[in-house]
Amino acid sequence: METVNSGTGPGSTPVPSKTTGIAGVASSDAALPKTSRTTAPAAPGAADVLKSRRRIVWTAVTAFLITNFLMFLRFFFPRTLFEPSTKFRVGYPSDFGPGVDERFKQSHRIWVVRRPDRLFVIYGKCTHLGCTPNWIESENKFKCPCHGSGYDMEGRNFEGPAPRPMDRAFVELDAEGQIVVDTSRLSSCPPGGECQFDTNPNSYLIVS
Ligand code: FES
Repeated sequence: METVNSGTGPGSTPVPSKTTGIAGVASSDAALPKTSRTTAPAAPGAADVLKSRRRIVWTAVTAFLITNFLMFLRFFFPRTLFEPSTKFRVGYPSDFGPGVDERFKQSHRIWVVRRPDRLFVIYGKCTHLGCTPNWIESENKFKCPCHGSGYDMEGRNFEGPAPRPMDRAFVELDAEGQIVVDTSRLSSCPPGGECQFDTNPNSYLIVS
């Protein structure tokens, strides 16, 4: 092995030559590219992990932006409860025979009742706690399924906890002679008081 003297005195320690001393080490290190000597090689799959993390971040950001955009759009479509109109036509007086007609109970919560001289519309809401009674044809009465109140054909209470008769809706004939009903304008009958629907001319129609 060739050595060089690090000093000038007789006790100086010989140092291996960088070019020819610890032979293979120094010379092979010098032969490597500069980057290979300073940077550790990337672990296998590290690039994939990085790519995967980027994908997760971008997915989260995109989802966040989409959610915010949808919430923004939601402001243009306010929650609205679409209910049937309170004013509607039910047909001509001649379309209704004597008794209780249930055709509009489901759609408008009313019964059209025809008596010998009058036609009127009962609003189907029990005056106890607001349930919708049923018309019992065989017993000729309305019966509330909640607490058992009973009403006669004219909607007057006669049994159970209901404190007063059921209300009646505003009725009139339009230019064509059809019956127009308005359930936003009700005539009621307070307990012990005078019934509005006996005196209010818009709570019934005269028929013959
Ligand atoms: S709600 Fe009709 S009897 Fe109670």
